[in-house]
Amino acid sequence: MSTALRAAGLADITVAPMAGGPTTPALVTGAARAGAVGFLAAGYKTPAVVEDELRAAAGVPHGLNIFVPSPPLADPRPIEHYRTALQPEADRYEIDLPPVRVDDDDFFADKVQLAAAYAVPLVSFAFGVPDAESVRLLRGAGCAVLITVTSAREAAEALAVEPDGLVAQAGTAGGHASTTNPAGYTGTTTAAEVLASVRAMTELPVVAAGGTAGPADVRALLRAGAASVQCGTWFLLADEAGTRPAHRTALVAGSAAGTAAGTAAGTAAGTVVTRAFTGQPARALRNRFTEAYSEIAPIGYPAVHHLTAPIRAAAAARGDAQALNLWAGTGYASIRPGPVADLVAALRD
Ligand SMILES: Cc1cc2nc3c(=O)[nH]c(=O)nc-3n(C[C@H](O)[C@H](O)[C@H](O)COP(=O)(O)O)c2cc1C
Repeated sequence: MSTALRAAGLADITVAPMAGGPTTPALVTGAARAGAVGFLAAGYKTPAVVEDELRAAAGVPHGLNIFVPSPPLADPRPIEHYRTALQPEADRYEIDLPPVRVDDDDFFADKVQLAAAYAVPLVSFAFGVPDAESVRLLRGAGCAVLITVTSAREAAEALAVEPDGLVAQAGTAGGHASTTNPAGYTGTTTAAEVLASVRAMTELPVVAAGGTAGPADVRALLRAGAASVQCGTWFLLADEAGTRPAHRTALVAGSAAGTAAGTAAGTAAGTVVTRAFTGQPARALRNRFTEAYSEIAPIGYPAVHHLTAPIRAAAAARGDAQALNLWAGTGYASIRPGPVADLVAALRD
């Protein structure tokens, strides 16, 4: 592994940034105490909240993950059509669907400035390739920069802005795919495949992500040359994670799929790649919402994210997992609850 990333605290196991609740400063500091490294998740948060979290993680190795803004939508009409299709959900959960919103850059520039001001040891980007100037600013401030990619083509785009390393994200990964080609994304690659194709492009360190179901997967990816293995789903049931109760219940029930518990919770077995919640492909546990809308959901992050946000909030408030984005990777059936330190130790068994 390059000295820059080692000096920045990159360890064999990376606790993935998980925006939308699961990542907390306690998860990140707990990971560091266990000799792993965790990333704070800046996505969806205001700069003030991100700054509070950076203060809470100061003093231990940590990273910060930032969403790269999507290119502007060429045509908002598919989103308007989807809005109409979602009206039964608005009726079911007694909410009003918001007008279509396309102008959200998730405070990208402010978050980059914050990362530089706090000299965050590791900064990773998701959803695309940041501009070269932001990468230069961060590296000049002492941050090591990683860019998440899902293919060799995306790796080539990312390498052009000169990061310190790449995160190779597989189709098996839970949550959003960091692809810049959502129309062509199938979600069928394994971590070993993406790691190999990305490593063929560069001598830089490559972090492997996606589908980790236990220590054998970690060992195999490290042996295949991964600088670290980034796991998200494995940590969703951690005591320190902020995973919503309905998400936790569905994960436990889903991992017992086929049993009475799985059936009672109404969670169909397995995961699916879907744009239904946010307009960007993401892997989630199947539920009523993914079954009803995956086929018609348009491409269009963050417009679709904003459109479905009140539906998801109302479902969460009712403890109803059937309209929640239950992000999960293909390894979800092996996960377990416990302190993050125990979960890190279990991955090293
Ligand atoms: C609930 C959840 C939220 C996620 N949020 C983010 C995020 O904010 N930024 C990011 O780069 N990756 C995010 N990911 C993807 C992870 O970085 C990583 O690629 C993935 O978890 C690896 O696959 P696994 O879940 O099978 O371990 C998220 C994953 C999950 C499960």
